Amino acid sequence: MSEDKGIEKYIRSDLAGFGGYSARISPDTLEGKVEVPVENVIKLDANENPYGCSPEVIRALVSYRDFNIYPDDGQTRLRKLLGGYCGVGAEHIVAGGGSNQLIDLILRLFLNRGDEVINCVPTFGIYKFSTDLCGGRLVEIPRRGDFSVDIEAVKAAVNKNTKVIFLANPNNPTGTIIPEPEILEILDTGLVVVMDEAYYEFSRETAAPLVGKYRNLIVLRTFSKWAGLAGLRVGYGLFPPEIADYILKIKIPYNVNVAALVAVEESMKDIEYLQSTVDKIIDERERLFGELKKIDWLKPFPSKANFILCSVEKGDARQVRQRLQEKGIMVRYFDEPRLKNFIRISVGKPEHTDTLIEVLRKIQ
Ligand SMILES: Cc1ncc(COP(=O)(O)O)c(C=O)c1O
Repeated sequence: MSEDKGIEKYIRSDLAGFGGYSARISPDTLEGKVEVPVENVIKLDANENPYGCSPEVIRALVSYRDFNIYPDDGQTRLRKLLGGYCGVGAEHIVAGGGSNQLIDLILRLFLNRGDEVINCVPTFGIYKFSTDLCGGRLVEIPRRGDFSVDIEAVKAAVNKNTKVIFLANPNNPTGTIIPEPEILEILDTGLVVVMDEAYYEFSRETAAPLVGKYRNLIVLRTFSKWAGLAGLRVGYGLFPPEIADYILKIKIPYNVNVAALVAVEESMKDIEYLQSTVDKIIDERERLFGELKKIDWLKPFPSKANFILCSVEKGDARQVRQRLQEKGIMVRYFDEPRLKNFIRISVGKPEHTDTLIEVLRKIQ
């Protein structure tokens, strides 16, 4: 192979300039860069559960012995269990290695090269990432000033090439909810509507009861946030059965690992405990919002999820993120058209809020 025409000539031409997804960094990588030991870093940048998973998950994983055996590829028990949790039959459910994997599978299933995907920005970055990767064309519909979805603009953007509409509910990073009448209007377009309910347990609003009634509605959920299992990568979707069958056919074999299967089973047996941590996070979200409001250079936006988006009204948000990081507090920083000079703070434990607020008061 000649030096000047390296491996690039074999790479798919539409991926030559692919930017990738900038995932959150791990606290381990901050060794020597922060003023606290890395084990004391307060991680408020990825909407994880600060209380961790159910203690039953840890107990069951310690005693599990069959890691040498592949998991059930058909997800039989898992689909039944999750169907019970969601109030739908097992035929509606397919699980994935995180709900991110299901986003990718849905787009692989529906997109031909150049097909369009409607995305209500600002929103979760994976919709763009996976659309680009699958050769689709992303059509961005800006949200209104209060970050609500511009339904009229969404409907006006639909054309013969449109296949899929993504709606995160609550939306990440804005924390906003879409009222049900607007969901129904969007479903009436007949396009594939993906309602991403990664934060459902914090908002308690869901389109799940509509799944049996609409052939074009998919609801996505995850165990990453409320159940404290982000590291085990397990999410699931509620699909019309005919779409579920296709997704089962195109997924890679054994896509949910045995540790995740054990963890979901134990989580489902310990919902009361998990619900108690969700309740604590919801209470803390309201307290954090009140405390952030008292900081005169920050403008927090009300949220139905486990994070709060803030506009930095005075000063530089990038520097705020940097100063917080030096003090051992990780938050998410945004620099995109509708989110210039914004940060997003995940809701932690009360002591995390106290430390955060103390540092914020001192840094500007
Ligand atoms: C809206 C939304 N959907 C999905 C995910 C990812 O979930 P998972 O960890 O199940 O891939 C996130 C994570 O940040 C999210 O914000």
